Amino acid sequence: MVGAGVDSASQALTNRHTSKTQIEIRSIGTKYIQKKLSSAEFLCYTLRMAYQGVLHKYGILLDLPLYSQTVSLLEGNTPLIKADNLSRQLGDFELFIKYEGLNPTGSFKDRGMTAAISEALGRGATTVICASTGNTAASAAAYAARAGMKSIVLIPQGKVAAGKLAGAIAYGAQVIQIDGSFDDALTMVIEITNKHPICLVNSINPYRIEGQKTSAFEICDVLGSAPDWLCLPVGNAGNITSYWAGFKQYHEMKAAGLPQILGVQAAGAAPLVLGHSIEKPETVATAIRIGKPARGEQALQAAEESNGRIIAVSDEQILDMQKMLAKLEGIWVEPASAAGLAGLVDEIANGNLNPKGKRVVAICTGHGLKDPDIITKDMNKPSIVPPRLEALEEIILG
Ligand code: F0G
Repeated sequence: MVGAGVDSASQALTNRHTSKTQIEIRSIGTKYIQKKLSSAEFLCYTLRMAYQGVLHKYGILLDLPLYSQTVSLLEGNTPLIKADNLSRQLGDFELFIKYEGLNPTGSFKDRGMTAAISEALGRGATTVICASTGNTAASAAAYAARAGMKSIVLIPQGKVAAGKLAGAIAYGAQVIQIDGSFDDALTMVIEITNKHPICLVNSINPYRIEGQKTSAFEICDVLGSAPDWLCLPVGNAGNITSYWAGFKQYHEMKAAGLPQILGVQAAGAAPLVLGHSIEKPETVATAIRIGKPARGEQALQAAEESNGRIIAVSDEQILDMQKMLAKLEGIWVEPASAAGLAGLVDEIANGNLNPKGKRVVAICTGHGLKDPDIITKDMNKPSIVPPRLEALEEIILG
């Protein structure tokens, strides 16, 4: 059924906790109308109940220092959209898209960044730095701006999508291009933060991992249990590490089960599949154009422990999936974000994964608007007609 995702998300929203909250909100509303509450009291109650970001909702489950000072853009709480049009073409199973592109700066990085910047602010840091293929840069810049901190971002020259670079600039970061790869930039930020009091906010920072666990919590809360399979793109390998840690923690608490994890790299940047680092990684999915993943070992461990695996797909498969997802489901993601699904399709086609009767969640990590050029560069220019009805009729009706 088209739109079933809406059902399932709203089902989740009516889980016990939420419906209790809704009843409370209604009774507070009634009291306010009956003038039993002042405007200030009404505001106090409703603000406390409103969604206030991942640290507010799941902070108690995260290993963050007490001195942290929350800096939030109300990240998280992203939709889990049921993708029936796509799953019908692939087999008989339930497929959900966790649309992380709907975070405040357009990618999943905001979950980890709220945690890292909150810790940095609480400890009195004034400047943060990161190496980035673009999304971390935009996210770090936005959260640093909100915290009143300076941000410096190092990006590989000419290899960052327009929407990400524009974001970093708009949020006021000092943007520095490195005549080298993301891996070179990461080495440099590690060196400089070892020498100077600047806070590193790449996913080497453990608080990034803590914050990013919250997506696994949300998935379990919405579905009522962990999915059978989770597929996601892998670059520097922080996200796969976070998901696995999050699912394990949730399973210990609530016996929610554990997914098998399918991590997917781009074939030209697949060090975890090849078993060695790559000097010059290349892929159209610039977000995951990484040759030496900082958390590579943990990613391999997560895949193995979960009884899953890390595979590679070609750029063509990634771009085909990006188009398919947009055209079949109305979900436009940036190329790297389609890698997880492209890997799922590849595994199904090769007979390595039988999805029948299973529940699969694909993580779509960043919004399509981050990288519009990839679509517009090959498109036919939209037709131009004079402003007359007959001309319009001719072009539409032939
Ligand atoms: N998808 C997108 C859209 C990303 O931006 C990234 C990483 C990944 C997937 C991979 O996540 O690194 O945790 O394995 N982007 C980083 C950046 C490297 O700098 O924005 P990962």
